[in-house]
Amino acid sequence: MTGASGVLGRAVVPRLERDGHDVRRSSRHPKAGWVRADLATGEGLAEAVAGVGAVVHLASATKRYRKAPEVDVAGTRRLVTAAQRARVDHIVYVSIVGIDRIPFGYYRHKLAAEKVLQAGQVPYSILRATQFPQLVDERFLPLASRLGVLLTDPGITVQLVDPRDVADRIAGLLAGGPSRRVENLGGPEVLTSTRLVREWLRATGRRRPVLSLRLPGRTARVMREGALTTPDQPTGTRTWRDYLAERYARSPVRDSQA
Ligand SMILES: NC(=O)c1ccc[n+]([C@@H]2O[C@H](COP(=O)([O-])OP(=O)(O)OC[C@H]3O[C@@H](n4cnc5c(N)ncnc54)[C@H](OP(=O)(O)O)[C@@H]3O)[C@@H](O)[C@H]2O)c1
Repeated sequence: MTGASGVLGRAVVPRLERDGHDVRRSSRHPKAGWVRADLATGEGLAEAVAGVGAVVHLASATKRYRKAPEVDVAGTRRLVTAAQRARVDHIVYVSIVGIDRIPFGYYRHKLAAEKVLQAGQVPYSILRATQFPQLVDERFLPLASRLGVLLTDPGITVQLVDPRDVADRIAGLLAGGPSRRVENLGGPEVLTSTRLVREWLRATGRRRPVLSLRLPGRTARVMREGALTTPDQPTGTRTWRDYLAERYARSPVRDSQA
């Protein structure tokens, strides 16, 4: 598995082990028992995939989007080549809902990585997930709240999915074998960005004015049209409120920490 150390990887590993899989974890900074592999250079990939039946590919340049061409696109190509040589039967790749509609550079690279899999020789399944609550809680909203006021476009909706729900679907894809298609997975509810922000402020104990406005530009327009959501496939079970309750029930963040 690539990306085993990440938010999703940490949910997928125990889920697959529960199904009896022997999971080989790869990382650039391996812990004891893991293997070292770097998608950006190809180092360690051949060893990482040698003798495995399936690869779950979760690694991505999420922390430094400018590395996405090397890590996500060329790195996925390197991984597919190594997997083909090792006669791997199945690669499961996790992508993002709406990448074909939303004009973000990172999304363009995720789409290119999907195409690498589709053009390769290793049977694949591609699972596009919506955003994880951790991303919104730990990265987007703390960053956005630095302005002192939180700006939201109430027309923009999201459908956050818990990584444990994504892990369940990955387990199902592994059990079912390569689907050779792209499928979407979203959380159980579609929320306006305003509600998302208000529930986060309440749960974390932060105080910020929330200012609603209609954001300009194409990206905001397609998001208002629902590009971040997949309401026909709401197979996740855990809600944003469930996440916030689990994360903050005992220790809401004080405003001074915001
Ligand atoms: N976060 C979301 O809301 C979201 C939503 C939908 C889909 N996704 C997709 O789900 C996948 C997992 O996301 P995540 O949120 O779990 O990511 P994350 O927590 O940011 O973890 C990123 C992972 O990528 C690995 N990585 C980065 N550069 C690498 C390189 N050069 N070589 C090998 N590994 C590298 C890291 O491993 P080491 O540092 O250990 O090497 C780490 O395990 C990604 O493909 C992402 O696009 C995420």
